[in-house]
Amino acid sequence: MPSSDVPSNWWRTAVIYEIYVRSFADGNGDGEGDLIGLRERLPYLRDLGVDAIWLTPFYRSPMVDGGYDVADYRDVDPLFGSLADFDAMLAAAHALDIRVIVDIVPNHTSSQHPWFASALAAGPGSLERDRYIFRPSSEEPPNDWESIFGGRAWTRTADGEWYLHLFDPGQPDLNWDNADVRAEFESVLRFWLDRGVDGFRIDVAHGMVKAAGLPSVGHPQQIGLLGREPLPYFDQDGVHEIYRAWRKILDSYPGDRMAVAEAWASTPLRLARYVAPDELHQAFNFDFLAAPWSAAQLRATIDACVEAADSVGAPTTWVLSNHDKARHVTRFGSPGIARAAALLMLALPGAAYLYQGEELGLPEVLDLPDDARQDPVWHRSGGTDPGRDGCRVPLPWDASLPAYGFSTTGRSWLPQPDWASLAASAQQGVPSSFLELYRTALRLRRTFTGPLTWHDSPADVLDFSRGGVRCVVNLSGAAVTVPAGSVVLSSGDLPDGALPPDTAVWLR
Ligand code: GLC
Repeated sequence: MPSSDVPSNWWRTAVIYEIYVRSFADGNGDGEGDLIGLRERLPYLRDLGVDAIWLTPFYRSPMVDGGYDVADYRDVDPLFGSLADFDAMLAAAHALDIRVIVDIVPNHTSSQHPWFASALAAGPGSLERDRYIFRPSSEEPPNDWESIFGGRAWTRTADGEWYLHLFDPGQPDLNWDNADVRAEFESVLRFWLDRGVDGFRIDVAHGMVKAAGLPSVGHPQQIGLLGREPLPYFDQDGVHEIYRAWRKILDSYPGDRMAVAEAWASTPLRLARYVAPDELHQAFNFDFLAAPWSAAQLRATIDACVEAADSVGAPTTWVLSNHDKARHVTRFGSPGIARAAALLMLALPGAAYLYQGEELGLPEVLDLPDDARQDPVWHRSGGTDPGRDGCRVPLPWDASLPAYGFSTTGRSWLPQPDWASLAASAQQGVPSSFLELYRTALRLRRTFTGPLTWHDSPADVLDFSRGGVRCVVNLSGAAVTVPAGSVVLSSGDLPDGALPPDTAVWLR
C-alpha cells in the first residue's frame, strides 16, 4: 500500500494501467520485458498519472499461453526476474504512490505444474487426478465442449482417460469441488497479499465451476455465445461462494486491497453478481469494449452498465483495449476516433482500465511474420485466426534507439513496425500528441465527481455532465455546435468553435 495514502476505496475511481510484462520494458537485454525494466519505467507511469498498475502473469511458466499457464504460483519466472526483483519493483511503485495488482489464474494450471505431473503419474481414480477434471477412457470425448482457443476442450492421456482444458491442452482445468484446490488458492492469495500487493485481477473468473454432470452444449461454435448466452462451463452459480471466501481474506488485510474479475456473463445483471458487496470489488466491462462507434449503442451500454453496477453498490469499470483484443485505434479504424473514445471513457464515473501503449496511440500490428507469432490461438486455429500477438508488440520508448529503447540490446521478442513517430520520446511535450492528451485527461479527471446526467443532444451526439465536467462527443457525420462553457480539453481541433465529426470535448 502506498505509504502516504489513507485507504479510501481508491479503486472506485482509479485509472489502472495494464502491463503486459513481456512487452513493456526489457531490463536485461534478452528481448523479453521483465520486472527490472518495469521498475525503471515507473516514473513514466507516475508522470502519466495512473493510480495503479495491473501486471499480467510473471510466475514460473512454460509460456504456452504467455504466462497464463502457471507452473508455480509462488515464484517469478526467470524470464521476468526473481522474487527479489518483484519486491524491489513493488516498493518502488509504492514509493511513487502507484498501487500494484497482480494476475491470478485459478481456472487452470500449466500441464507442467507439479500437481498435474503427479496426477498423470498416479493414474485413474487417484486423489491426485481429482484435483483436475479427468473422465474415464472412452473412444469419444466426454461431451461436446470446445476450447476457447479452437478445437475440442478434451485431450486424452496415455492411459486413455480424458482431461478438460477450456483453453490450451497445456492448461488443464482445475476441479474446484476439490478441497485441496480451494485451500491452495487461498494460500496463494495470502502469499502475494503478505508481500504487499494491492489486489488481484482474476483470470477467467466465470470459469471455475462447471455445471453438474458436464452436460453437452448441443451445438458447435460455442465461443460465439460467450457473454451472450448461458454455457455449462461458464458463469455457474457456484463461483460466487469462492468469491465470498476470497473477499473475507482480502478484507482481513489492512490497506484497502481489491479484486477485479475478468468475467463474462450473459447479461449485465448476471455480471453484477460478481461485484455484490460481499464478493469482488470490480468486474471488467467488456460490453463497453465491444460496443461499436455508435452514439445510440454506446449510450445504451453505458446506461445498462451503470444501472447494473448501481444495483449492487459497485463502481462501473471501463476498458477499450487489453492484451486479448485488437487495439482500439485499429478496431475503430482511426486515431481520431480512438482519441475521442478515450475522452468519453475518461469522463465516465467509475474506474478506467488502460492498456499499455494506448496512451501512445499504438495500432494493432497486422502484418507480423507467421514464424514470429506465438499465440496458441494462431497455432490451434491452423493459422486462420491471427490471434493476439498484434496487440502485444513491445512498446516503443525512444525513437532514436534500436528496438525503440524497449531493450538495451535492440532485441525484441516480437518484431516492431516503424514506430519512430509513435515512440514516447517523440510525443513527450508535443501538445497535439496522444501521450499529452492522456496525461492532461488523467490530471483533469481527478477533479470529476458523482454520477452522470445526460443532456438533450442532436442525433448521434453524446452529451453528459458530472461534477467537474461536461463531455460532448460527436459521432455524427457533420460538425455540431459546442455548448456554452469553457473548453478544458478536446480530442482534436475545434475549427470556428464547432465540434467536428469523431471528436470529443470537455467543458467546464
Ligand atoms: C484470459 C486471459 C487470456 C488467457 C486466458 C486463459 O482470458 O486474459 O490472455 O489466454 O484467460 O488463461
